[in-house]
Amino acid sequence: MSVVLTARDLTRHYEVSRGLFKGHATVRALNGVSFELEAGQTLAVVGESGCGKSTLARALTLIEEPSSGSLQIGGQEVTGASKAERKQLRRDVQMVFQSPYASLNPRQKIGDQLAEPLLINTALSRSERREKVQAMMQQVGLRPEHYQRYPHMFSGGQRQRIALARAMMLHPKVLVADEPTSALDVSIQAQVLNLFMDLQEEFNTAYVFISHNLSVVRHVADQVLVMYLGRPVEMGPKALIYSRPLHPYTQALLSATPTIHPDPLKPKIKIVGELPNPLDPPSGCAFHKRCPYATELCSVEEPALRLLDARQVACHHAERINAVVLP
Ligand SMILES: Nc1ncnc2c1ncn2[C@@H]1O[C@H](COP(=O)(O)OP(=O)(O)O)[C@@H](O)[C@H]1O
Ligand SMILES: [Mg+2]
Repeated sequence: MSVVLTARDLTRHYEVSRGLFKGHATVRALNGVSFELEAGQTLAVVGESGCGKSTLARALTLIEEPSSGSLQIGGQEVTGASKAERKQLRRDVQMVFQSPYASLNPRQKIGDQLAEPLLINTALSRSERREKVQAMMQQVGLRPEHYQRYPHMFSGGQRQRIALARAMMLHPKVLVADEPTSALDVSIQAQVLNLFMDLQEEFNTAYVFISHNLSVVRHVADQVLVMYLGRPVEMGPKALIYSRPLHPYTQALLSATPTIHPDPLKPKIKIVGELPNPLDPPSGCAFHKRCPYATELCSVEEPALRLLDARQVACHHAERINAVVLP
């Protein structure tokens, strides 16, 4: 298995104005995210709105520079890469957005939009490009006559298929999908998720699949990264995270996820209170004010991410919680 994406201690800070006379403040939108991702594997990134998921997506796709930390795509270091190298790296990592309108040009025919990456990056002839586009269209469930149509002539689900097709045209090593099904009807979501999985199998692409909803990523994820206020709080294999979550925040997210077979043995946790202001995060563990397990220690010392029971978790009381979760 080959690692195609490596993030090491990625951070991204934003300087924001607090208003007249109040000066500036720093939002730590992304704070120390590290992971490795292999070809054909999916890392799901989950957490409430504002926890830094889209900031991570922008850093991974070279849309924004991280404030610190390092990133490797296909074994190549991104920081310090030359202009030509960056251009190649941008080909290797593609993105699908929540709204396909963000990635599609409303004034250009679908076929031409899908052919564009080939026109810019390959020496293929016009007819060869057309052939490749038709093949990809078929793969994502579009008909040949759709080639001549414009984005507004499609349904939301179809548009997301087109956005996915466009992202896959150059067979990227990594695809970052930021809430790609959140704007779709529930009945369409499963079809689009299945298409993501089919294309991954076909092209052996590594996916970073971002969602605020743990039930959406349940079927697509191999690894799960749970974020809270810009920090990773738990990361590990999907089966473990879903069956034996150790971080109280992961437990709370899962408790809020409807399941067909609720497990009476699993502790149900409700998140209390509001998401803290990212400009003024709580001391110690950022989750402590909403956490049922919190003690004095949690309000003063920030827990480090550490290995416990085959996953990484950032919680002072993970051992105690582990004892409760054990069947
Ligand atoms: N360009 C920016 N300038 C200032 N703050 C930002 C900017 N982009 C994101 N943020 C802040 O960073 C935090 C994380 O945002 P984001 O990555 O969009 O979260 P998510 O995608 O998980 O909802 C939020 O508090 C958001 O307000
Ligand atoms: Mg977002």
